[in-house]
Amino acid sequence: MTWLITGGAGYIGAHVVRAMTEAGEQAVVYDDLSTGIADRVPDGVPLVVGSTLDGERVARALADHEVTGVIHLAAKKQVAESVAQPLPYYRENVEGLRVLLDAVTTAGVPSFVFSSSAAVYGMPDVDLVTEETPCLPMSPYGETKLAGEWLVRATGKATGLSTACLRYFNVAGAARPELADTGVFNLVPMVFEKLTEHAPPRIFGDDYPTPDGTCVRDYIHVVDVAEAHVAAAHALRSSPGRSLTLNIGRGEGVSVREMIDHIATVTGHHLPPTITPRRPGDPPRVVASADRAATELAWKAKHDLHDMITSAWHGWLRLHPEAGRD
Ligand SMILES: NC(=O)c1ccc[n+]([C@@H]2O[C@H](COP(=O)([O-])OP(=O)(O)OC[C@H]3O[C@@H](n4cnc5c(N)ncnc54)[C@H](O)[C@@H]3O)[C@@H](O)[C@H]2O)c1
Repeated sequence: MTWLITGGAGYIGAHVVRAMTEAGEQAVVYDDLSTGIADRVPDGVPLVVGSTLDGERVARALADHEVTGVIHLAAKKQVAESVAQPLPYYRENVEGLRVLLDAVTTAGVPSFVFSSSAAVYGMPDVDLVTEETPCLPMSPYGETKLAGEWLVRATGKATGLSTACLRYFNVAGAARPELADTGVFNLVPMVFEKLTEHAPPRIFGDDYPTPDGTCVRDYIHVVDVAEAHVAAAHALRSSPGRSLTLNIGRGEGVSVREMIDHIATVTGHHLPPTITPRRPGDPPRVVASADRAATELAWKAKHDLHDMITSAWHGWLRLHPEAGRD
């Protein structure tokens, strides 16, 4: 069985490629290298450079490599950018997916795994977010992920394509330093960046209705996220016509202040954070219930916060060696 992994040269995709090949699966990466890095694709795994918007190129890749399953991670992912520029987000994330699904169903590929996001929930007013919690995305990015889920499920229903929509929560860490996230869009790299500048990390609002007043999130190691894809791919293969929608989180809330304290311990940079006003649209608490993924996939996150921060820091030091000096 050969899996086409779109976005396989990206941060999470590169981890999925490794997890799949280590599980004995054949993989082919399909990536336009807009944010991806070709060197992340391991030796022996073919890389097809192309956009998911290019239906002919996708169809050729599916045929040339006799693809029998697709894991679709290729997308644009910056929430703030999607607010300023919604059209490219709808084009890449929704139209790119529609074109891909057209090629997949025409080729008769039976299994499809889709990267969704906790951003589909928006501002959930619950302690633990289940897959039944209403989806009310707050940004065009979140909207494109929800619309993507609708496309995937509707196509599955109409054609018998087996589908899994995986809603990742806050992904962090790296399997190896060279696979670390190179972007600075999430809390962990944002704090690393400040510490590298010998500047205090920032907390956006400490007056939320949470135990320490700062926002609470569910952080999950990218290696655990990758393993969830392997489990989903195997689940789809063993039961045709399946439709899964699953939270991929640890089910454990960590506040921004707790995260900054952990980062200080791991990095040895102890700078008290500065408090700035809340950012618009930040929900106080978004923590997954991970029960359904445990039941459906027999999958559970294994890595803790320390693993995430330590591995992310090693990746950061590789690109910013000055951060290790006092
Ligand atoms: N990083 C997170 O915390 C997080 C959380 C939830 C969901 N996600 C989702 O996970 C997926 C992967 O995210 P990531 O963090 O690895 O991002 P990334 O930017 O590192 O990876 C995206 C990859 O897709 C490629 N790509 C983008 N548009 C493409 C297109 N139209 N055709 C072909 N290739 C294209 C890029 O070159 C890149 O290699 C995305 O769908 C993202 O929305 C990420």
